[in-house]
Amino acid sequence: MRNSVGAGRVVVLLGPPGVGKGTQGVRLAREGDWDHLSTGDLLRTALERGTALGKEARSYMEAGELVPDGVIVGLVGETLATSAPGRSVVLDGFPRTVAQAEALDDTLAKAGRAVDRVCLLEAPEEVIVKRISGRRSSPGGRVYNVHFDPPVREGFCDDTGEPLIHRADDRPETVRKRLAVYRRDTVPLVGLYEERGVLRRVNGQGGIHDVYAALRTAAA
Ligand code: AP5
Repeated sequence: MRNSVGAGRVVVLLGPPGVGKGTQGVRLAREGDWDHLSTGDLLRTALERGTALGKEARSYMEAGELVPDGVIVGLVGETLATSAPGRSVVLDGFPRTVAQAEALDDTLAKAGRAVDRVCLLEAPEEVIVKRISGRRSSPGGRVYNVHFDPPVREGFCDDTGEPLIHRADDRPETVRKRLAVYRRDTVPLVGLYEERGVLRRVNGQGGIHDVYAALRTAAA
């Protein structure tokens, strides 16, 4: 099913941890005036606020495991319900399992919408590991990289001046676990969306601006 007249586009960013989904998703949303829905960001906010959701999610996230589908589907359903159907949305880090993909289809169908495009960002594991080792995050959600995209003042966010943090799940052993979970639970979505004809592969190896240009074309 294609989206009904007047409905915005629904674009999913798929790809392994650290490939650049957040970096590119934020920019796509900002430049296109789209909504940006990142389940990782929603969960980290819940964690920081100490909500019931945050408490439930913490042990999974720290272990590099996926938070259970039921929790995630509820969270995304609530968030999508607040998004006007006319607005386009980029989904970053969701869906990550076949069950989540099916739940997304159901939610969108109720609003006369469907997934229009799935952009699969790809890069070799050694590139990903280097990117993650250099990642520093602002509590407000902006992401930097000490090797590739440093802040003007080392250790502090350019926008808010807050100290940058190293994510707890970016430790090498947790990153290895997250990559294994990606291969086990999320890679099956590639075939699923390929069969539907909505998947586009994006070379995620280049610089941030080159990847963005390729992504924008793929998402169109
Ligand atoms: P989440 O936050 O979604 O983590 P992830 O998918 O593992 O992705 P990352 O945030 O690590 O990486 P990214 O691809 O966004 O890369 P980024 O742009 O930051 O999820 C965290 C946890 O929450 C999960 O492990 C799970 O527990 C839970 N969770 C979340 N969603 C869930 C779901 N749907 N179901 C169940 N559980 C869920 O880039 C990485 C670094 O590289 C940055 O420093 C960046 O500056 C740099 N960089 C980016 N692009 C480039 C480039 N082209 N060149 C050089 N450097 C670059």
